Amino acid sequence: MIKFSFVDIQKSKVETLVIPVCEDKNIHANRTVADLAKKALAVKEFRGKAKEELTLYNPGRVKCERVLFLGLGKADNVMAETLRVFMGRATKTCIGRELTQVSVAVPAAKRLKLDEGAALEALIEGGCLANHMFSKYKSKEKKKPLKTIAFLGAPGSAAGNRRAAARIEKICAAVTQAREWVSTPANDKRPDAFARQITKTARARGLNCRVLDEKALKREKFGAMLAVGQGSQVKPRLVVLEYRPRGVKKTVALVGKGVTFDTGGINLKTSGGLEGMKMDMAGSAAVAGTLLAVADLKPKVGVVGVLPLVENMPSGSATRPGDIVRSYAGKTVEIGNTDAEGRLILIDAMAWAVKKYKPAAMVDLATLTGACVIALGEKIAAVFSSDDELAEAILTAADKTHERCWRLPLPDDYKELLKSDLADISNMSSGRWGGAITAALFLSEFVSDTRWAHIDIAGVAYTKKDGPYCRAGGTGFGVRLLCDLLTHQKLL
Ligand code: BES
Ligand code: MN
Ligand code: ZN
Repeated sequence: MIKFSFVDIQKSKVETLVIPVCEDKNIHANRTVADLAKKALAVKEFRGKAKEELTLYNPGRVKCERVLFLGLGKADNVMAETLRVFMGRATKTCIGRELTQVSVAVPAAKRLKLDEGAALEALIEGGCLANHMFSKYKSKEKKKPLKTIAFLGAPGSAAGNRRAAARIEKICAAVTQAREWVSTPANDKRPDAFARQITKTARARGLNCRVLDEKALKREKFGAMLAVGQGSQVKPRLVVLEYRPRGVKKTVALVGKGVTFDTGGINLKTSGGLEGMKMDMAGSAAVAGTLLAVADLKPKVGVVGVLPLVENMPSGSATRPGDIVRSYAGKTVEIGNTDAEGRLILIDAMAWAVKKYKPAAMVDLATLTGACVIALGEKIAAVFSSDDELAEAILTAADKTHERCWRLPLPDDYKELLKSDLADISNMSSGRWGGAITAALFLSEFVSDTRWAHIDIAGVAYTKKDGPYCRAGGTGFGVRLLCDLLTHQKLL
């Protein structure tokens, strides 16, 4: 784990100093730092524009072997996300140069139209997240994460800054845990093993854990979920994680799709579609990660995480297209397509959560549809809710954390597309278009009158390319958003 500290620039000797520089304005209150930035801007190839970078060695003024200047562009355009990206670049550059101790000059928030606290949090977040590398499966990993990041000239009291850092570090640890679960290959996270990994981690944080195995799921009549899992040799598990603060009555239920590998089942995917389907449990990873953070953040609302874990495989025991099952809620479902499995496990988990916890609000996260990726691409998730306040709260949290979301509608008349000739409903739309919407509408039939929102994270859960503060692999999308939602937003 990286160590953050807050120090005084004149007093300390520094191995590497990183200074953010804007092209149109001095953003530093500290004279020494401002002078160094001026010196950098005097070099012809450095203008302080976004993406520019310059290193000066032993530049004088400070006891420092190297100073790395990173351009931020125009001061008025600097947002919290600019600072996350800046720290991500700083961290990755220093890791690349095999440096281990880095000091960063904190810009003056006032010169940037930014809130002081939010600016510092964004810097810590970018550093923490960019420092994470998942190298468990590499026999020889040369690159080492940074050991310490010292912030120079951070505003606020040292104690306050340390508290903020501790909070952000907890959230980032939860994000990196979610990332690792998503990046883990499907052979090492089949439902039984994944359930054990989650409960082991959650118990260590003091969360209450429960696992329903196949026998319990049969007894409790999780008909839809069991149908999805019956083709695999490893049968489904339902993991339940509880955070229950004393004297608090209201509970928020978080439900996460946990398909540890989605082959499509008998409606087998083709090779392009199969690739990467180990990430189909990213919803459950985000929810489990959120509960890990919640155990430390201790919000004033109860939180329960409900994680249906299954492997969707084709075999002699697999569900066939056309099979009809009775879901936990009692409604019968015709399984028109075995590849629309996410909605089947979610309806049982959500109906169970509603019955057991009567949650004041429920949010589900799921890599649910390819249609969502077509609509919004790989950086924006879709939010569905008939509750305007809940949808707004999610969009606000999404904005603050830059886990971007866009709201899509739940039009009543599209429900026609889910009609089944023989059963109460079909899991497969009869039409070709609007697949993300019809999937969300299918879910909406199983939440009774609970305030509920669905977030389709199919596009954002995994990245094949390194980003500024997230390397290729699972992104952990949703953890920061949900933490913000539970701790800052008026939810209830
Ligand atoms: N897990 C997939 C959705 C998905 C696609 C996630 C691409 C991430 C990237 C889901 O289970 C699925 O297969 N959905 C089908 C639904 C269809 C059969 C109605 C889809 O989107 O094609
Ligand atoms: Mn599928
Ligand atoms: Zn799936």
